[in-house]
Amino acid sequence: MKFFIDTANLSQIREAQDLGVLDGVTTNPSLMAKEGITGQANILKHYVDICSIATGDVSAEVIGTEYKDIIAEGEHLASLHKQIVVKVPMIKDGVKAIRYFTDKGIRTNCTLVFSAGQALLAAKAGATYVSPFLGRLDDISFDGMELIHQIVHIYRNYGYSTQVLAASIRNPLHIVKCAEAGADVATCPLSAILDLLKHPLTDIGLAKFLADAKKTQEVSAK
Ligand code: E4P
Repeated sequence: MKFFIDTANLSQIREAQDLGVLDGVTTNPSLMAKEGITGQANILKHYVDICSIATGDVSAEVIGTEYKDIIAEGEHLASLHKQIVVKVPMIKDGVKAIRYFTDKGIRTNCTLVFSAGQALLAAKAGATYVSPFLGRLDDISFDGMELIHQIVHIYRNYGYSTQVLAASIRNPLHIVKCAEAGADVATCPLSAILDLLKHPLTDIGLAKFLADAKKTQEVSAK
């Protein structure tokens, strides 16, 4: 399973890249706003800055909701850098635009997907990635993981090439469950990736090994 980081924060992207486990980045308008990136020129520059840090795919989201606006914006975003994947919302004009981009060889990430039917449409339109938001479903007492299982199952039934990009991940258990379900990608906050490192027995075991190593060094020094 690929690991993407779900942020527009450059130092977090650098930290994940330096860890050696990063396969890509997803952003959205809320994440850009959180970093205080405003103005079209600054937003476009920020995408290029992200591409200069991360080596994998970088999702950049369109703001337009009408076909011609999505096309114009998406073509411009895709022209910024070869790592850019155009993120398009799951709406009627979005699906139509994904088909257009697919036919033009522009890669897409269909976002704001909350049902298997929506995921089926995204795959039929040729989306490179589909982003089911599992955390937001959990937040309203629906089983987000069940949706991931359903989409993986349906895509395997028909051999769709669209990659399942599990999004809206909240914690390390979500990541592990996505891997079990066969998601192609999990896009996560840095904190959830780093939480995968943690186990109390690792800490206890390491403390004991270091204490014993100190004893052996003290003996050999005598
Ligand atoms: C991913 O592409 C989405 O933008 C993101 O995962 C949404 O996460 P949230 O529900 O934590 O805002």
